[in-house]
Amino acid sequence: MKIVRTKAELQEILQQVRQENKTITLVPTMGALHEGHLSLIEYAKPRTDITVCSIFVNPTQFNDPKDLENYPRPIENDIALLESVDCDILFLPSVEEMYPANDPEWHIDLGNLDRIWEGEHRPGHFQGVTQIVYKLFSLVKPDQACFGQKDFQQVMVIQRMIDIKELPIKLLICPTVRSDKGLALSSRNARLSEEGKENALYLSKALRYIKDNIHQQSVEVLLKNAMDLLASNPALTLEYLSIVESSSLEPVKSIQPGIGYVALIVVWVENVRLIDNIILQEA
Ligand code: PAJ
Repeated sequence: MKIVRTKAELQEILQQVRQENKTITLVPTMGALHEGHLSLIEYAKPRTDITVCSIFVNPTQFNDPKDLENYPRPIENDIALLESVDCDILFLPSVEEMYPANDPEWHIDLGNLDRIWEGEHRPGHFQGVTQIVYKLFSLVKPDQACFGQKDFQQVMVIQRMIDIKELPIKLLICPTVRSDKGLALSSRNARLSEEGKENALYLSKALRYIKDNIHQQSVEVLLKNAMDLLASNPALTLEYLSIVESSSLEPVKSIQPGIGYVALIVVWVENVRLIDNIILQEA
């Protein structure tokens, strides 16, 4: 695996790749890699000639400075993991490399996506995410880019940006990788104690409960029971839980055939913000 730290070197290497008519797939990450991230690279590998993974803890998407400071950065381990899945190129830029002093301001109209759920609870977050992903897309010019379904709203935001900027990039959406007990893998799980990890299982339990009973109970009752389950554990603080239409993320009152639905959840455990979701019905 080639490790590249500057934009200039990356562009030089990728220009050569493109001249050979090879396809490029980008997997953007913030590092502290786990099986979830590696699944994106494993998904990309047989579908492309060259897989580029970026590791960059992007300061503009953190609305909480403490979260940015505490974000894990085990780079030697990350490099070993990427080698183990045969990633071709690791792009590992510095903050100065991605955000030079004269960097222009960024704003993109994400409409409702910037105002609901993650947009509401993490103001500015998706502006930061699109800012860095646009920079990476412009630099790498990938044919495809892999993102995880775990960050359901993030996938929608990136697709919206692709549409607005008319980028010729195909999004590949990969399923959420979970622990044996159901906890969605996340870099932030590293900050949980063993007890915290047990308590965090309530997220997937609540989602599973909703999915298993989606045709048995009303949306109102499903949400009430799932919230009661979460409230029964004092170690959890619920930020939001909702059943929404997949295409708009608007909350719904009932489930209709032929329409896609997803349940979205955010819960705090031991001062760690955990996000998860489950697809309830495909469109
Ligand atoms: P990060 O949280 O490191 O996630 C990188 C990618 O891995 C995202 O597409 C995310 O959805 C995916 N991912 C994380 N956990 C996963 C799991 N358990 N199963 C499957 N996929 C998983 O998301 C970001 O970084 C940043 O916002 C980024 C897009 C890199 C922009 O800075």
